[in-house]
Amino acid sequence: MIRFDFGHAHAFLKDDALASAKTQAAEAFKKVQTKTGPGPEWLGWRDILANPNDALLNELDALATAIREEADVFIVCGIGGSYLGAKAVIDALGPFFGSKGPEIVYAGHHMSGRYLSELMAYLQQPKADGTSKKVYINVISKSGTTTETALAFRVIRKWIHETYQNPAKHIICTTSSAGGALNRIIDANGYKKFVLPDDIGGRFSVLTPVGLLPIAVAGIDIRALYYGAVSAYNEIELNPDDLLSYAATRLALYQSGKAMDMIASFEPELSGMGGWMQQLFGESEGKNGKGMFPVLLGYSTDLHSVGQMVQEGQRNMIETFLVADKPAGSVIVETEDDDADGLNYLAGKNFHFINNKAFLGTREAHVEGGVPCLSIHFDKIDEEHIGRFIYICEIAIAVYVYCLNENPFDQPGVEAYKKAMFRLLGKPGF
Ligand code: PA5
Repeated sequence: MIRFDFGHAHAFLKDDALASAKTQAAEAFKKVQTKTGPGPEWLGWRDILANPNDALLNELDALATAIREEADVFIVCGIGGSYLGAKAVIDALGPFFGSKGPEIVYAGHHMSGRYLSELMAYLQQPKADGTSKKVYINVISKSGTTTETALAFRVIRKWIHETYQNPAKHIICTTSSAGGALNRIIDANGYKKFVLPDDIGGRFSVLTPVGLLPIAVAGIDIRALYYGAVSAYNEIELNPDDLLSYAATRLALYQSGKAMDMIASFEPELSGMGGWMQQLFGESEGKNGKGMFPVLLGYSTDLHSVGQMVQEGQRNMIETFLVADKPAGSVIVETEDDDADGLNYLAGKNFHFINNKAFLGTREAHVEGGVPCLSIHFDKIDEEHIGRFIYICEIAIAVYVYCLNENPFDQPGVEAYKKAMFRLLGKPGF
């Protein structure tokens, strides 16, 4: 299960402020359910859980299995909501080192020429046995026009066409049903295409082919992931209390003047989920001068970089801990005869025990320093729990942003940098 702990946040709130936020959150949830809030045409991420499409899961699974049997490298080419969800799940559930299936690499998520030139050199470098690498790419772009993704795809696609006899086998595209440059390229070349439904925005798309194909190619059980989200959906529809308490607590803290939400975890495998959450929250709530800035922190590493700021800087932040109650693995500290490093007091303890005490100690210190702390606990880190967490975050931010009287599903501000960049690049019409 996924469990919330509000005990270290509610102490910072007056009862009436929390009660009022809860009423607002309950009304906002009803608007989501009845499609009567802003952006009702963007609620398809709920519909796909109310009516799971097993045929699509089977199709994605079958293609992923075929790719896993053949590919050495699988490139996920996309930016923002088109890659962060897949990366988050793969980081959470894949191994830290090595992999049984193809190596998953990312492209199209920035415009670094050095990164792309090194990636191209790596793809061309033979394997240890002297044979060439078998490379597949999944280009993912809802609009089909995003510059970062389209530029990387142009370079990699050319190389694939020059390298393989049947290039179309190596290129899989995920985009909207129609429109955009990518659809023109797909039609002209006969590439395999998966559709991102029109009623689901990029950052809400991890449980569509956008996220599910790369996740399946990484060897992760997409049915368990998907049905974890379905369970969370069904349970919250029946009893939204905990979810509404989370949205309301976050709302009341924002209304009390907090400006930043530090999303922190002591588990490095959850840092990708934190990064996905950062985009989901940031793009959904940062509108018309409103919202809390979501900041991703990896502890205990970042306690040695920005820990000072969290402890004693401006008191304008809240902290949201992502906590793994049962780790997937651990190491026991052994006794040493001379105790030269002074660590024998930890002998017999496992790293999870120590890491957990670091979490508890950090939360205690930050609360004493004036930072309201929320915790989201994963009973364990597996497909089901990650699926549950995905839906919980999606519905929580939708409810919260409705309470701000904003549309959680658009991102008009992202266009500003593009316009200026296109003008500087001399793009026709800018
Ligand atoms: O959440 C979003 O909608 C954005 O982050 C998009 O996913 C991102 O801008 C990429 O857009 P596209 O998929 O059209 O290439």
